Parts: sequence; C-alpha cells; structure tokens
Amino acid sequence: PRVLFITPEVFPLCKTGGLGDVSAALPLALRDLKVDVRLLLPGYPSVLSALKYKRKLATFDLSPHFPAAALLASKLQVHEGGHVPAYIIDCPSLYQRRGGPYVDDTGRDWPDNALRFGLLSRIGALLASDASPLEWRPDIAHCNDWQSGLVPAYLHFHPQQKAASLITLHNMAFQGCFPPAEVTRLGLPTESYDVHGVEYYGNMSFIKAGIYYADRITTVSPSYAREIQHEALGFGLQGLLAERRDDLSGIINGIDTTVWNPTTDSYIAKKYTSKTLAAKTVNKLALQQTMGLEKNEAIPLFAAISRLSHQKGYDLMLQVAPMLTELPAQLVLLGSGDPVLEKQLAALEQAFPTQIAVRIGHDEALSHLIEAGADCFLMPSRFEPCGLNQMYSQRYGTPPLVHATGGLLDTVVDLTPKTLANDRASGFYFHEMTADAFLTGIKRVARAFHNRRLWRSLQRNGMRKDFSWQASASAYRTIYLSLMQK
Ligand code: ADP
Ligand code: GLC
Repeated sequence: PRVLFITPEVFPLCKTGGLGDVSAALPLALRDLKVDVRLLLPGYPSVLSALKYKRKLATFDLSPHFPAAALLASKLQVHEGGHVPAYIIDCPSLYQRRGGPYVDDTGRDWPDNALRFGLLSRIGALLASDASPLEWRPDIAHCNDWQSGLVPAYLHFHPQQKAASLITLHNMAFQGCFPPAEVTRLGLPTESYDVHGVEYYGNMSFIKAGIYYADRITTVSPSYAREIQHEALGFGLQGLLAERRDDLSGIINGIDTTVWNPTTDSYIAKKYTSKTLAAKTVNKLALQQTMGLEKNEAIPLFAAISRLSHQKGYDLMLQVAPMLTELPAQLVLLGSGDPVLEKQLAALEQAFPTQIAVRIGHDEALSHLIEAGADCFLMPSRFEPCGLNQMYSQRYGTPPLVHATGGLLDTVVDLTPKTLANDRASGFYFHEMTADAFLTGIKRVARAFHNRRLWRSLQRNGMRKDFSWQASASAYRTIYLSLMQK
C-alpha cells in the first residue's frame, strides 16, 4: 500500500508530545514492512532549517480560501540510518513564525489555527485525490488528531477518485473547534455544517469531521477505544463514536527502541542492561547531582516528565508531594505547559529544596537521564490515550506507578502476588483519581523498593517486555489492506 501520513508534528524536528514520537517511529516501522508511507507536514521554521535538501514539486493556488503555498519534497532523518520521505507545505504567512506549532510564545492558540491546519488538511486531501499534481498517489490518507481532521471531509466532498481515509485519535481533549463561519471560509459546503457533519455544539470541529467522515478510526490503545464511547472520556462525541464502533479499534503505540535504549543511550551517565542493573545507580547519582538533590543511593527517587496540563494530573502531584518527602523520598519533575502549574511547581521546589527538584522547559537529554536515574516513574494521568513514558521507563528498569486508565492499563502490569509469581508484574496501579489513592500507591512503591529482590524482579520483567513497533505497525498495515478492498 501507498500511504500519506498527515501529521502536525514529527520528532526530532518538531515535537510537543507523543504524537511527534509516533509520527517518526511508526512510519519507519511501516517502511520496514514494505509499506510506501510518506509524511505530509507544515513547513515550520524548525522543519525547513533541518532539511539537508528540499525540492520544489508543485505550487497551489487555493484562493480565495487559502494563501498560496508550495509543496517541497525531502527526506527526514529520524535517527541514524532511519529515513522517511516527506512532503512539506511551504506557506510562510501561516507557518514561518516564532513560537510553538499550535500556540504563540505566551501560550495562546494562534488566532489563525483554523486556516493553518485547514491548509494541512486541504493539501492532504488534494494529494490523496485525482486532483493531485503528483504522480505518486496514496491508497490511504492516514490522518492524526484534529489538525488533519478535515482531510476525510474534503475527500468526502471530492466527486472523483480518492484514497480511503483513516484517522488515528491520539487525544480527544484537543478538538479543533472554531466558529461556524469557518466552514465556508475553509471551502467546505454549507451542508456539511450539520449534526451529521462537522457541527459540534454550535461550532465546527475538526476532530468531529474526522470521526464522522473517515472510513476507519483508530485510537492509540484498545482501552482508550472503549473509554471514549462513554460519557466520562468521550468529550461529547461518545454517541458518534459508539455508533461507529464497527469501524473503531485501538492499536497500542510502540516506542522507538533505537532512541530509547539504556544499552546504547549516549545521554545517560552510564549505560546498562538488565544484567548490569547496579550500573543504573551511577545514573541515579548523576541525576541527583544535576538536579541539585542530596546524593543518596538508598532513598527512593520518584520522577515525572510531561506536558503540564489538567490531563496529566499535576494537581494530584502538587497535593501529595509534601507527604512524599516525609517517607522519605525524593522527587524530580520535568515539564512545561500551563503557566499556573509551572508557578506552583517552582514554589514546591523552593519549599523542599533538598528533596524536590523541578525543571521547567522541554529537555530531551534530561528526559533520558531521568528515565535512567529515577527509581519509579509517576503517571497520575486523568486519562491517557496511550502514554509513552511508562514504556520508556519499563525499558529503563524504572517501574512506573500509573493511574489505571487508557493505554496505561494496556502497557503496565500491576504488582500482585499472582503477577509476581508468573513474572509479569512491571509496575503499580492506583485506581481512584484522588490524592489519597495516589499517595497510598506511592507508599506501596516505597515499600516494594526497599525489598531488593522484589524490586529487581519488577525491573527485569519490565526490561524484558517487547515495546517495539513491529506488531502494531503490522496491525496498521492490515487496516490499510482492508481499506483498499472496500
Ligand atoms: P502526550 O503526548 O500526551 O504529551 P506521551 O506520554 O504520549 O504524552 O508523550 C510525551 C512525550 O513527550 C514523551 O516522549 C515525553 O518524554 C516527552 N516530553 C513531555 N514533556 C517533556 C519535557 N518537558 N521535556 C522533554 N520531553 C518531554
Ligand atoms: C497523545 C496522548 C498520549 C499518546 C500520544 C501519542 O498526545 O495524550 O497518551 O501516547 O498522543 O499517540
């Protein structure tokens, strides 16, 4: 199959979260399976400046809806030896600016996001239809999240030949909602503004468009695919998702096992394997030193890395942190996002300078040292479509404590007498989304940590697990093939 993989971010050129990692690693794994997958992404400054070469393939005049744009072809280097062909949309007035891909320097959504990602979707749909200026024509348009959610809508209203569409939902919390006037501005027919279409509680919604018009829908874990069909996590779209359940399934994300490998990781202080776990301590001491904490092998060191948002449960983190220090234990936090949470975390560090260290910002290198140096990784996410860090941490011998939700349920095995006996236990769950339950979980981890043999089994069980993309990439391939039969 030929697949156009349409995404708003890709590691290492532009990443705000897991979607960036997935957009790099999944296409690489698909290419290993002989799927001809090519990326389509916006030409942000960080993308254009990183490309060693680029060739101009076509120009688009999509007036009056969009400014003029050009299509560039290049190859993205994901890591040494790993390349993916890519098409980049060059449209300086929409993409050439300082700040993030979705928000400006002060954290506010770009006011023209409808246009910015409308253009990504419009060109994605064009390339996936017989209106494409390219010879290469995909069988499948594989969309990701709201930013490419209009692709299936544009394809639906394209009268002639077109690719089948698949949308992967990485996160239902971001929906791409805009005033109804955008529908015609973006060149969609007015009749699409309907409950049976792009309308969502009085607005237009990019993600609803994707869910409504795509031929097939996937989420990034089987548990999340079930959860979003119910009110608690469906963000108002549970009804539509339940209606479409025959076309909806979950495929768990893998991780890039080349980038995330404690045996070869050059960001960490000392490399190690499951047989040389004593060397992990060198990383713990290095992390304590880097973060200005007391250097102490024996004290349990908890850590978390994350976007700071309501989803990630940092309100609970703030509540339990003072009690955590009393165990005693240490806490290292790396994250950025919500300015209020950033301030609260900085204050927390000031209150417990020897035991809590907070780093605000995005720091790829430090995130590797944290995975290697921490004893336990914390993920109190309210909901988690998949989550990657709990997989990175298991691979690094750092058992995670997670809220029992979404992909966390599908990738971590809770410690019980039974899972310990059959060598499957690899971490810890807490069930209620409350500070009490989270703290009880933390205390449970601390007890287990002091039981050396038990702890080693947890570490080894996690390190042995296969988190590679192979099985999941092949599940996507099966979906592509089935869509081509339709
Ligand atoms: P989400 O996509 O919801 O943010 P995931 O767990 O899927 O959650 O992916 C998060 C990714 O972003 C991981 O690779 C994580 O290490 C990384 N990440 C998040 N915040 C930071 C940060 N401040 N510094 C470095 N990496 C970060
Ligand atoms: C999202 C989700 C996260 C998932 C990632 C990649 O941002 O919040 O759980 O791992 O996408 O699919």
